[in-house]
Amino acid sequence: MKTSIYKIEQPEGPLTENDLKAIGECGRIIKEGGLVAFPTETVYGLGGDALNEESSSKIYSAKGRPSDNPLIVHISDMASLESIVTDIPDECRILADRFWPGPLTMVMKSSGKVPSRTTGGLDTVAVRMPDDLTARQLIKASGGYIAAPSANISGRPSPTAFKYVLEDMDGRIDAIIDGGVNPIGLESTIVDLAGERIMVLRPGFITNEMLSEALGTEVITDPALLDPDCKDRPKAPGMRYRHYAPRGEVRPVKGSDDAVSEYIVGELAVANRNGRKTGVFCSSEHASKYDADVIRSAGSLDDASSAAHEFYSALRDMDDENVDVIFVENFTDRGFGEAFWNRLLRSAGSKWEEVK
Ligand code: TXA
Ligand code: MG
Repeated sequence: MKTSIYKIEQPEGPLTENDLKAIGECGRIIKEGGLVAFPTETVYGLGGDALNEESSSKIYSAKGRPSDNPLIVHISDMASLESIVTDIPDECRILADRFWPGPLTMVMKSSGKVPSRTTGGLDTVAVRMPDDLTARQLIKASGGYIAAPSANISGRPSPTAFKYVLEDMDGRIDAIIDGGVNPIGLESTIVDLAGERIMVLRPGFITNEMLSEALGTEVITDPALLDPDCKDRPKAPGMRYRHYAPRGEVRPVKGSDDAVSEYIVGELAVANRNGRKTGVFCSSEHASKYDADVIRSAGSLDDASSAAHEFYSALRDMDDENVDVIFVENFTDRGFGEAFWNRLLRSAGSKWEEVK
């Protein structure tokens, strides 16, 4: 299949005449049952008509993704929400007021309008209204409901820039919209409003504290995400799969600043001696300490936004360089740092090293 590329001239807006025309064409492709990858403020999405079962089937096969892992439905206005859920909970209205459009996905009881191919057979549906202008325009142009997982081949890190989407999806889908680099670089927060207790199923830029503050009640994280030995499985089916795994071994190191960098210096020496190709993902303050084949520095240790923004692209770039082992410093795990730590652990197979 030939994949058409459409470049957005002004992704930050206002969208130009050419941009609107390009997005209009992509909307038509989706309406006709095709697939278009598009930018959002989190990561690139692989979009198809959420109400068309065949489009969802195509998404699963383009990604090579298990079809019991449900897709998020993207909308561009509140009116579109009404027909796809049984009713709109008060909590949804409060959170939508505060955080939509934006990097928050809410799980609610499905009315049945979204086909089970899209919802993975669940009686709930996950809905998000993205903030990105191109994304919202595309949703409007394609009839109002776009099912979109991250636009990566299943098991690879989510794509956080156009070039990574091209790497994974060229020849597999109808079109890709080039909107440059995604500002956040980590997938949306998923909050479950359909269960007994309001719970974060996947941490993201919108933190538990932000949700708790808006709702006036404490919002917790799905316990299965925090404890690998927990008897319950994660509630979001996608969090059960090993994901985001680069080919190289990822080794997160936790502890006080100096202890962490000393430890990594020592372990790098061992790895270098053993002829392994080495990588480090670290703070800008420590970057000059390390002797590694590939060094990616990402802001300071207390800045989760910068680490989150760089992480997936660093993993992909290290794969391209055939790095065998990737040491990762301990950026803050507070606030947005919880999401970074969650993705880091998943890329590392839930293990880390603690030093004093
Ligand atoms: O930021 C994002 O959310 C990006 C952009 C493209 O919007 N999308 C994204 O989609 O990350 P995906 O498919 O890679 O991740 C969707 C996650 C999966 O873990 C899936 O299991 C979960 O959402 N999910 C979808 N519907 C659900 C539901 N009804 N209940 C619980 N989890 C659900
Ligand atoms: Mg994904």
